[in-house]
Amino acid sequence: MARRKKIYEGKAKTLYEGPEPGTIVQYFKDDATAFNAEKRDVIEGKGVLNNLLSEYFMLGLGQIGVPTHFLKRLNMREQLVRSCEIVPLEVIVRNYAAGSMSKRLGIDEGTQLPRPIVEYCYKDDALGDPLVTEEHIAAFGWASQQDMDDILSLALRVNDFMSGVMLAVGIRLVDFKIEIGRVYDGDFQRLVVADEISPDSCRLWDIETGQKLDKDVFRRDLGSLTDAYSEVARRLGVMPNNPPAPSKPTLVN
Ligand code: TMP
Ligand code: ASP
Repeated sequence: MARRKKIYEGKAKTLYEGPEPGTIVQYFKDDATAFNAEKRDVIEGKGVLNNLLSEYFMLGLGQIGVPTHFLKRLNMREQLVRSCEIVPLEVIVRNYAAGSMSKRLGIDEGTQLPRPIVEYCYKDDALGDPLVTEEHIAAFGWASQQDMDDILSLALRVNDFMSGVMLAVGIRLVDFKIEIGRVYDGDFQRLVVADEISPDSCRLWDIETGQKLDKDVFRRDLGSLTDAYSEVARRLGVMPNNPPAPSKPTLVN
């Protein structure tokens, strides 16, 4: 079989050309990085869990009418997605203070915010993804005002959906990051939720115990990341039948 064309290799995923024009195969690696890749490790099974969890969230968003790039899962490590142009912003929504917001503003982690707060970071690893305002975004042309209105509304809909899904299984959605893609239908552009939604890009705390079930377990050396992600998958009923293993991908229909 001919080797697939690799389009891009990121820290946690590799993108390959898809079988049809306008499609991409998104392969979830087991690599974990933090602090702009200063800390890195390979966490056996992480890719499988994130593939299944991201599928679950993207499908759910689709069901409530939030457009995403997701087309279908191909196997335990890969999903087929629509090719899109990524808006160079990390869109962060916070319900409780944590992480960089707690540091920047001196608010204790876990403090409930008066309302969801949306932040934008400019996607540039060399600069460490700096926080930017809508003024920067407009002035530098990273997104139009209409795009920003749509992005805000998408981000808040994702927040409501994810908060509800998590609350139902006893997990608090503290914050999360999404990326937005542009897809073109003829002359028209649409914005969709792209990249992934997984415990790599959310903060998830057990409501009863406060136990962290997200990538902070890796960032802060709090135990087994696979155990944490498996717990999220188990509660949502998307745990793979066989425990995640870095085995060869198997095809699903
Ligand atoms: P922060 O508190 O470090 O700014 O992170 C806020 C949220 O965004 C948290 O859920 C983790 C997520 N995030 C990413 O997914 N990728 C990143 O590069 C960063 C900095 C944060
Ligand atoms: N900064 C990202 C994080 O901590 C990962 C990375 O940049 O390596 O989530």
